[in-house]
Amino acid sequence: MTQTKTQVKNIAKKFVIANWKMHGNLKQNQALFEAYIQTLSGLKDTQVVVCVPYPYLAQAQSLLQGSGIAWGAQNMGKNEDGPFTGEVSATMLCDFGCEYVILGHSERATAYCESDENIAQKFMMAKDHGITPVLCVGETLIEREAGVMEMVVGKQLDTIIEMYGAEVFIDTVISYEPIWAIGTGLAATPDQAKAMHKFIRGKIASLNPDAAKSLKILYGGSVNPQNAVQLFVVQDIDGGLIGRCSLNAQEFEMICRATEV
Ligand code: PGA
Repeated sequence: MTQTKTQVKNIAKKFVIANWKMHGNLKQNQALFEAYIQTLSGLKDTQVVVCVPYPYLAQAQSLLQGSGIAWGAQNMGKNEDGPFTGEVSATMLCDFGCEYVILGHSERATAYCESDENIAQKFMMAKDHGITPVLCVGETLIEREAGVMEMVVGKQLDTIIEMYGAEVFIDTVISYEPIWAIGTGLAATPDQAKAMHKFIRGKIASLNPDAAKSLKILYGGSVNPQNAVQLFVVQDIDGGLIGRCSLNAQEFEMICRATEV
C-alpha cells in the first residue's frame, strides 16, 4: 500500500464544485472567475472549487489565489512522469496550485474506456501529492431500472478499497453521479440521492468509521437553482458537483448559497 506523503488539508463542511468540462476561453473565463469572486468569496461553511480545462489552470491560479475559492483539474495521469503523450501528472497540477482533481467522471470513463483500476491508481496518486480526489461514481439508467445501482456503485468503491484499503477515503470527496442525470435536466430525486449517499457512507463506515466521518459525499447530475435546496438539505449530501449551471455565474451563486440554507 502506498503511504500518503502529504496530509490532505482539513476539509470544509460543504462543497460545491464547478465542473466546466470542455467549455470556456480566456476572455469568458476571466468574466466568470471575477463573478465567482465577487459573489462567492464570503461563504461561511462552503468550499467552492472550480475544475477547469488544463490550459486554464494558470489563469485560475492567478485570478483565484487568495479569494477563498479553490481550483482543480478534471482528470490526471496515473503515472508520476514518463513517456505518456498527452497526459498531465499530479506534480504538474501541484505546480499550478491545484488542490482538487475530479477522477472517473462518466464522460471520461465511457468515452475513454477508463477502468476502475486506472481510476483507483489516479486516486492514490492524487492523495500522495496532497491533492484531494473527487471520485465520481454512479449507475446507468439500465442499471437503475434493473435495481442493481448499489451493486454497481459498490463495485466502483471496492476496486479502491481492495487496492489501498478504506482508510484512503479519509478527507476525500466522492460525488454520486447517476449517469442518467448528467446533462439531461433530470436530476435524481432527494430520496433516490439520499438512499445512495446512505449506502456509500454506510459501506465505508463498516470498514473504517473515521473515513466515513471525514468523507464528503456530493451529488452531481442536473443540479440547478430550483432543486439545489431540496437536495442539499438531505442528510449525507454534503454539496454538489455542478456542470451546466456552473457556467452561469448567477445560477451557480444560487446553487452555492443553497448549501448554506
Ligand atoms: P450537469 O453535470 O450539472 O450538467 O448535469 C454534472 C456533472 O457532470 O458532474
